[in-house]
Amino acid sequence: MRALSRKHGNKSLNFSDEVLIKSLAVVRRLKEFESGGTMKRREFLRGTAAAAGCVWAYSPKLAFSQSADARIEVLLEERLGTISPNIYGHFAENLSGVIYDGIWVGENSKVPNIGGIRKELVDEMRKIKAPVVRFPGGCFADSYDWRDGIGPVDKRPRRTNFWNGGEAASAPDAHRYDPNRFGTNEFAHFCQLIGAQPYLAANLRSLPAEQFYRWVEYCNSPAGSTSLADERSAAGYKDPFNVRYWGVGNESWGCGGNFTPQEYAVEYRRFTAWVPSYPNAKDLSFVASGPNDDRWDWTRGFLEEIVRKGKGEVNNIYGLALHYYAWNLSRGKTNDWEKGKGDAVNFDAIDWYELLRQGDVMESLIKGHWLAMGEFDPEHHIKLVVDEWGPWYKPGSELTPGDQLEQLPTLRDAVFSGMTLDTFNRHPDKVGIGCCAQLINCLNSLYLAHEDRFCVTPVGYTFALYAAHQSGQAVRADFSAPSIHYDRDGNPASFWGLQGSASLHDKQLVVTAVNPSVKDALEAQIAVRGARISSGEASVLTGSDIHARNTFEQRQSVVPKPSQVRVDNGSAVFRFPAASVAKLTLQLA
Ligand code: AHR
Repeated sequence: MRALSRKHGNKSLNFSDEVLIKSLAVVRRLKEFESGGTMKRREFLRGTAAAAGCVWAYSPKLAFSQSADARIEVLLEERLGTISPNIYGHFAENLSGVIYDGIWVGENSKVPNIGGIRKELVDEMRKIKAPVVRFPGGCFADSYDWRDGIGPVDKRPRRTNFWNGGEAASAPDAHRYDPNRFGTNEFAHFCQLIGAQPYLAANLRSLPAEQFYRWVEYCNSPAGSTSLADERSAAGYKDPFNVRYWGVGNESWGCGGNFTPQEYAVEYRRFTAWVPSYPNAKDLSFVASGPNDDRWDWTRGFLEEIVRKGKGEVNNIYGLALHYYAWNLSRGKTNDWEKGKGDAVNFDAIDWYELLRQGDVMESLIKGHWLAMGEFDPEHHIKLVVDEWGPWYKPGSELTPGDQLEQLPTLRDAVFSGMTLDTFNRHPDKVGIGCCAQLINCLNSLYLAHEDRFCVTPVGYTFALYAAHQSGQAVRADFSAPSIHYDRDGNPASFWGLQGSASLHDKQLVVTAVNPSVKDALEAQIAVRGARISSGEASVLTGSDIHARNTFEQRQSVVPKPSQVRVDNGSAVFRFPAASVAKLTLQLA
């Protein structure tokens, strides 16, 4: 404890800090183990169990049946905060098939569209209550001039896309040379159609700050008030777009300028100083480029520099963006970005668990960065904005050959996504926005599309299930289930047996959970402290096989299906199938 105090200066550790420090120790140990360090498997497990010990010390007092495999105890009195719908947000970058083909098909296309925007996508996104969409990048954002994408379409310039270098020679022109057909107006129209808020990422690396506030002016100044508002009206958009969320650069530690955190903080202050606000979008919410996975040094370095100018400077930051991709499936053999990646569709049970283990780190990242942020922003004015998350596999599974960074999501990715959304639900006080990377035809896509073909992936159906949590009161839910043990290339390894989240909506309780076991179903008893369950229903996403997925030809292989909840004497029993994502809707008396 003394060593910890030294590391954290004079700040005295309270209980939750202690829990967190232990979980950070788990991350460090996991990384050391995975990078092939000297630590032996058994030492890792023993140390990890000890580190996590205090988290599991709670003993439930409700009477649980002895016959169930697992227990879920919901504590209604323990409110964690309101689940912002924005946790269920999306990310659409001008990258390969995301915009051109995925979202934009053009007004004259034979593909059903609304003003050039793929209609089937709009219909699906309405169903999942899509709250917010981030655009135009990603790395693309810091090479983008928003002015290229407004004005008469036949006058818009063609530009070399940031991602041009990775495109196949056979790739469509629109993927290599941005036609700028889909710009600010079309994006705002897309957001209006689906009922989502736009979240624009501004170019900090290669445009001056002036262009940032001119873009704000174009989007938000009232009709007739400025020349840019006139330009907007001339394009058919009289009413301002009232864009509230603005990213100030993207991955500024890398493609967004290769800054140190201190250099970026100076730029951030300059870019956000005196950005004009307008009557209907008074409170702009700026999102600062934040850390990549566990780069605590970025979080600290950035905020330390920000508050050097005064403690109040934190009030000018709505959120700090955290990016975390699960990509290293090498089982500790390498940390090489290319060599460490796994295959999206050809994998075994160990790869399944390895991916989930990687994704499970999200919880420690949220807690860790939150703690670091608290050193400079003790009142926690700044939220975490996890605006890029998901698994990242090696190329080869894309349904549209040649689409860069496209991958074919399977049931594994649905379980991964459910687990991640549950993690966000458990931290509604910390996570302000979450954006799955990416919406369509890229990485952890909810949808895949090519020309007139379209399908909802298992990830898309996971979002459909979890939409029920939006705006609910997150309440504590303790999951207790036997761990899963598996053989990791000759070494014993384990993963938790059931995990999830719960939210209250008047007298209705929504519980979501994933059963990560590749082979065993799990019967769980669910009890609510402070209420009785009077009835319940469930919807479950699973498949015939852990590799199950939807394709253009087989669109319905993995779809949510209704399932029965047994209610008896005020508590409920539900059987979670192996490799599944489930939503339970329970009525409370
Ligand atoms: O999502 C793909 C890329 O991953 C984004 O452009 C970038 O921000 C991240 O590195």
